[in-house]
Amino acid sequence: MKKVIASPLIAASLAMILPAGNAVAAEQTLTRSTGAPVGDNQNSLTAGQMGPTLLQDHHLIEKLAHFDRERIPERVVHPRGTGAHGVFKATADLTDITRAAPFQDVGKETEVFVRFSSVIHSKGSPESLRDPRGFAVKFYTEQGNWDLVGNNLPVFFIRDAMKFPDMVHSLKPDPVTNLQDPNRFFDFFSHIPEATNMLTWLYSPLGIPTSLAEMNGSGVHAFKFVNESCDSRYVKFTWKSRQGNNGMNVAEAAKVQSTNFNHLTSDLYQRIDNGEYPVWDLYVQTLDPTKLNDFGFNPLDTTKEWPEALIPAKKVGELTLNRVPDNFFQYTEQAAMAPSNMIPGIEPSEDRMLQGRLFSYADTQRYRLGINHMSLPVNAPKAEVNSHSQNGAGYAAPRKGSVNYQPSRSGHGYVDDASYKVCSAPLTGSTQQMAFEKTQNFKQAGEFYRSLSKSDRKDLVEAFSGDLGKVKNDEIRTIISAFLYKADKDLGKAVAKAVDVKMSDVKETAKQYKD
Ligand code: HEM
Repeated sequence: MKKVIASPLIAASLAMILPAGNAVAAEQTLTRSTGAPVGDNQNSLTAGQMGPTLLQDHHLIEKLAHFDRERIPERVVHPRGTGAHGVFKATADLTDITRAAPFQDVGKETEVFVRFSSVIHSKGSPESLRDPRGFAVKFYTEQGNWDLVGNNLPVFFIRDAMKFPDMVHSLKPDPVTNLQDPNRFFDFFSHIPEATNMLTWLYSPLGIPTSLAEMNGSGVHAFKFVNESCDSRYVKFTWKSRQGNNGMNVAEAAKVQSTNFNHLTSDLYQRIDNGEYPVWDLYVQTLDPTKLNDFGFNPLDTTKEWPEALIPAKKVGELTLNRVPDNFFQYTEQAAMAPSNMIPGIEPSEDRMLQGRLFSYADTQRYRLGINHMSLPVNAPKAEVNSHSQNGAGYAAPRKGSVNYQPSRSGHGYVDDASYKVCSAPLTGSTQQMAFEKTQNFKQAGEFYRSLSKSDRKDLVEAFSGDLGKVKNDEIRTIISAFLYKADKDLGKAVAKAVDVKMSDVKETAKQYKD
């Protein structure tokens, strides 16, 4: 039986304010989660007009119980996200260097889901705040899901996973005041000279993107490409936006924020709704393992780019975003992107940050979303899943038969295939806890600063000293200015002046750090 839920007049005015895109068909019967029709969704079942509500009102109890559990833990980092579906098209055949499915034929298309995100600021935070931005791409290949979980900036603050929780604690709100505080994060970064490169990028206008479509992306780490014969080479991935790579200065961001604190999400969805699908070109840089020691920096150091003048980039594909997800929570919030989601042909490098990430993401997702999160629609591979892992909360995998173990002589169950073994890699040396030998903490920061236009340099100095100037401790302001001075003398001098520290102290401090 159909129920009328709104008068024609109300329905007409609602139609004007609600997006029609994925609306429920008119006048469908409301049901419980069990599928049973609901007779009254307005009045609880009570004992007479004045009596209490009855425990047997199972619709009310189910409705409240579900509502009580509507929130799941926020991502510990990258909480505010914007998702979109799209397609990746290969423009080069890379079979000679990798067996990875998306790169096997020119023109081959692979479905993708992309999630852009803030890093530090929370789920409801303004999108106009300074933050690196996540640029995470899930490729649904016929050999399983491959997640390239990168950022919009090509480098990172630190080079060892051991430092990540401390760094994030310093950047997140103070546990006492619940306010983000430059006194805390610059205290931390004054011990981390290798962060100078990333901080210089972050305080440039690119730290507040104008539009998600006008943003480059980077896998940041070196990964490994391996081919059918297990020949391996290091590879870095970069997304170059065809719409440009643009950011805002402090005044521009304040202006945007005063009228719209969702400018990134609304802009992306508007472009897609208008059919102006944003496109990125994917470039790879590859490095023969024998060349790992040929540079002044360590190519497995996430605080460094691979300069294209030294290691050329080659275009291998293009990404188009063309569909807004039907439901924010189901897709964008429940997406589980993990660097450990790799496919044959792509293997991890020894990069110490990547090694930590291989554990951390799947671990947090088991906590945030549960052990069976891989069967949620956004995470479910398009490839068939034949696994003996079973049960647990939210278990929905269709499986039949008694043989839920391997190996078996029964002729049933699944078998492993030696052609997909991980390639062997040579090892030398002994276990150790040692810092990187090649640090080169400041060179690329200076090169980046000098590559900026005059007005971007001015904006960088203003934004950097705006935050550093809030730091009460003279020593911290002096050390950070010394890091910038080592990157570029003009940059260091300009910031030192703006944050009121003595240039003689900055120069003396700079001498204590090697180039
Ligand atoms: C050892 C260093 C790092 C650790 C331990 C770490 C840890 C995490 C964790 C726990 C999450 C939340 C995942 C979830 O709840 O689904 C996350 C999200 C994310 N991280 Fe990292 N991270 C590290 C470094 C990096 C780096 C270097 C990048 C960029 C290359 C990066 C990019 C991202 C992105 C884009 C997301 C959001 C993924 C999404 O949209 O769902 N992280 N990270």
